[in-house]
Amino acid sequence: MSDDSRPSPAEARTESRTAARTAARTAARTAVVIPAAGRGVRLGPGAPKALRALNGTPMLIHAVRAMAASRAVSLVVVVAPPDGAAEVKSLLDAHALPERTDFLVVPGGESRQESVKLGLDALPPDFDIVLVHDAARPLVPVDTVDAVIEAVREGAPAVVPALPLADTVKEVAAAAEPGAPEPVVATPERARLRAVQTPQGFDRATLIRAHETVTDDVTDDASMVEQLGLTVVVVPGHEEAFKVTRPLDLVLAEAVLARRRLNDGF
Ligand code: C5P
Repeated sequence: MSDDSRPSPAEARTESRTAARTAARTAARTAVVIPAAGRGVRLGPGAPKALRALNGTPMLIHAVRAMAASRAVSLVVVVAPPDGAAEVKSLLDAHALPERTDFLVVPGGESRQESVKLGLDALPPDFDIVLVHDAARPLVPVDTVDAVIEAVREGAPAVVPALPLADTVKEVAAAAEPGAPEPVVATPERARLRAVQTPQGFDRATLIRAHETVTDDVTDDASMVEQLGLTVVVVPGHEEAFKVTRPLDLVLAEAVLARRRLNDGF
């Protein structure tokens, strides 16, 4: 009697390869690097941006908690202002953070890119997935963090959370003389544009290669991977993952926190 439900030897090999890949993905450990060494001059005078308080808690602590909220994240590396590593370390010690997550603090550099590189240099070997998250995005929801990690686990070398744009975007050229209006040179089709947020997620080896290879000034890490010729993919971002840049953003962030407290029933 033949048993049609039994897999052929070729099917069995495929199944076992798939199972091995699934096991490897599940075993992949995830670390987050948080560049927090910027001064945040656009917010006005005062403490470095990451140390400004939102409802009494420093923005950086909100950002660290947002990353540690994901059960997949087992290490968070905070890149502190070059002269502020000790202060950031005591700040982390003074706030309640999840027990299952490890935390490291390293001094940052002159540019965001350099700060991220210094954070990557501090990573222990046993992490295969790295997220890079701006301290200036303190309120990103855990679902967004998990969606980015999942897409890297599924095999994407680089993943960015992004939202469609409300505004039409114009490309401009330099003004003919100082103070003169800038001429518009192009209007990219809005439907094809996305506003990109963080955390951005990477296969660790790819991100390290990008940082070793690309020397141009960039404003995000994914663009360095694009310059390697690899495909970066997008997952849905979230409106609460906005970047705190200008004074009005502080008001908006505190309003989001107040709404969350109401919804949580406090
Ligand atoms: O200046 P911008 O808002 O783009 O900074 C994005 C992130 O990069 C912030 O979290 C900031 O603290 C960080 N940064 C850094 N080192 C620098 C400059 C910026 O870690 N030298």
